[in-house]
Amino acid sequence: MSGNAAPNAAKSQNSILLNAVENASSVFATRNPESQRLFESAQASMPGGNTRSALFFEPFPLYVNESFDARIKDADGHVYLDALGEFTAGLYGHSDPALREAVVQTVNKGVSNGAPGTGETKLASLICDRFPAIETVRFCNSGTEANLYALTLARAATKRSKFVAFSGAYHGGVFNFGKGGAAVNAPYDWTLCQYNEVEQTTATIERLGSELAAVIVEPMLSNGGCIPATRAFLQALRAACDRVGALLIFDEVVTSRMGSGGSHAIMQITPDLVTLGKYLGAGFSFGAFGGRAGIMEQMNPRQSDSLPHAGTFNNNVFTMNVGYVGLSEVFTSERAETLYAGGEGLRKKLNLLAKECSTLVQFTGCGSAMNIHFAAGPITSPEDLISEPGDLFRLFHFDLMERGVYAARRGQINLSLAMNEADFDLIEQSVAKFLERYRDIIRSIAGER
Ligand SMILES: Cc1ncc(COP(=O)(O)O)c(C=O)c1O
Repeated sequence: MSGNAAPNAAKSQNSILLNAVENASSVFATRNPESQRLFESAQASMPGGNTRSALFFEPFPLYVNESFDARIKDADGHVYLDALGEFTAGLYGHSDPALREAVVQTVNKGVSNGAPGTGETKLASLICDRFPAIETVRFCNSGTEANLYALTLARAATKRSKFVAFSGAYHGGVFNFGKGGAAVNAPYDWTLCQYNEVEQTTATIERLGSELAAVIVEPMLSNGGCIPATRAFLQALRAACDRVGALLIFDEVVTSRMGSGGSHAIMQITPDLVTLGKYLGAGFSFGAFGGRAGIMEQMNPRQSDSLPHAGTFNNNVFTMNVGYVGLSEVFTSERAETLYAGGEGLRKKLNLLAKECSTLVQFTGCGSAMNIHFAAGPITSPEDLISEPGDLFRLFHFDLMERGVYAARRGQINLSLAMNEADFDLIEQSVAKFLERYRDIIRSIAGER
């Protein structure tokens, strides 16, 4: 074999992959002329035609103005199984009758009341019952805002200003630690550690010691590729925070859907503060932060030095009333456990398909949220994903859409309560067909032929 054989082989693999992506992209563009037209017209009034980074992809995103049950319908009339599930906020699907009724009742009683209502107390009380680490809670408008408040509370409670977070974590638009961080990140004093890396992280916590206000961690990196934390890692964080007197914040904006009480209940670990978001607003903007009553008490307006917590829509009646019906009548503890088990079962099946295809393919995740990966070996942190070929994710995304399944471009699949067994089967069959269609390309990238 000549010295150039290996680089040449890699080049030709690359061009085969690129050709496949270009083909898939042009099939997508041909199928979706109306989405393309809408995208072009959106560019006149929004930079890049976009107001939410996660929804942009090349050549243009699908435009969706209608949805029902577990389905969305795009502007060109194609109907898809909604496996994106609004990045987990779409837990309830699109037309749950109890939620629709709650919306109608709320409208009928009048909105924008400028006063406390009973909805917020009912939802707060239910959240405190469901999530063991939450003794008292406050509402806000997004997961980003919830994290902003949790970090600020930690700073006030400890009178310290340093924070530990994890590479690849995402705690909101201004707390993005993917790919080295984002230019728009809020100016907090961060030290980043590697996810699931016990020794390095505990050493960092000890080193920061009396300057450390809090450690913030997602029990599963969601944006970072559905990588679950090990219990040993979270336990080590709990112990190290206790040793130095820092707070432990669990960002459960995504993972609160895991079982009845979120990941901290499953792991039986009690963080000091928990942040929530996404599905809990049942389709309306939602954020919440809660935890130890003693820490939350800093926000009690009856105390002279209390921290203010303003926000016109903190208790908006849609979120409060519909969110309450969602959590009390629809996402009951029982259904939460069933959905979790359903997700675990589906991921197992997808991993059997992946294993048959190539060592390069696997699905990571937890319960009803999962992500395909193109990386051999165990995946315990984003550092294990550095050499993933991004074009395979594009192929996967286009291919699933051709088969009538709408997932995230980053390969994330989120299940909803509106899905049934046939929908789970459709996901499984679509993944099987994708792997079959591109098996040779995937295997050649893995060096398996
Ligand atoms: C773990 C996590 N935290 C926080 C957020 C931010 O939530 P929001 O988009 O509601 O601001 C997200 C959103 O994806 C998230 O995944």
